[in-house]
Amino acid sequence: MLRIGLIGFGKAGRAVAEVLQEHPDLDLAWIARRSPPRPTDPLPHLQQSCTSQTDYAHLFDCQPVDALIDFSSPDSIALYGSAAAARGIAIVSANSAHSDAQLALARELGRSTRVLCSPNITLGINFLLIAAKALKKIAPWVDIAIVEEHFRTKHEVSGTARRLAHALDVDEASITSLRLGGVVGHHEVVFGFPHQTVRLVHDSISRHAFGTGAVFALQRLLTQAPGFYQLEQLMLQHVLAELADEQPA
Ligand SMILES: NC(=O)c1ccc[n+]([C@@H]2O[C@H](COP(=O)([O-])OP(=O)(O)OC[C@H]3O[C@@H](n4cnc5c(N)ncnc54)[C@H](OP(=O)(O)O)[C@@H]3O)[C@@H](O)[C@H]2O)c1
Repeated sequence: MLRIGLIGFGKAGRAVAEVLQEHPDLDLAWIARRSPPRPTDPLPHLQQSCTSQTDYAHLFDCQPVDALIDFSSPDSIALYGSAAAARGIAIVSANSAHSDAQLALARELGRSTRVLCSPNITLGINFLLIAAKALKKIAPWVDIAIVEEHFRTKHEVSGTARRLAHALDVDEASITSLRLGGVVGHHEVVFGFPHQTVRLVHDSISRHAFGTGAVFALQRLLTQAPGFYQLEQLMLQHVLAELADEQPA
């Protein structure tokens, strides 16, 4: 059994906690959040309030874990990072929008432990990214359009769509964003060939996908030496290893 500490218990963290609790090989040891434990929230007996480096070091010593899964905020890595690295605790940070300084810290922590940062942690989006890049390699001249749909109150352009644009060398300004009712998240890459069209589509159905993605990321991360990794890189490595044995029919 791997002992896991979950950091962040908001919209994403709650769904991730459910996935971790249901997993047969994982033991959710505690959940760290900023505010004091709230008895009215789920799993009150697992909640811990952590607001300083001292709080995290104390928690790691009193209730040791093998790995951290972080769905809190980009700045929290500065609170727990050094203490986790000093104890060899693996880190999966799913926080979007890390600053350059925070990413530099994550890379530095990778000198002592395994660290993975992934602003897009679902398995599906990482697969879509790899598949889209593969198609672009085969046909670098193909027309590419990126469409994203999200709930009405999401104002900014999806970070995932911008990541796709960057990876495929598409101008971010040409991303089509639709805001519709309660759509959780839809990303589509359309490849226009002269005589055919290829569409790669990903739809998020529930936030539990963040949890299954984090578990996949952790499992891949634990096969690696200490260092700094991204999920797309580990997934590509995994896919290439699996496909290497395939023989053409
Ligand atoms: N990679 C992905 O695919 C993906 C998907 C979804 C979300 N995320 C990321 O996950 C994070 C949380 O998103 P959310 O929508 O769940 O936000 P949210 O609903 O606002 O929840 C944030 C949670 O983190 C806790 N928190 C914030 N700063 C903390 C700190 N320094 N130490 C400990 N706990 C801290 C908060 O504590 P309190 O409860 O005490 O306020 C709260 O429980 C964001 O960074 C987001 O970008 C990533």
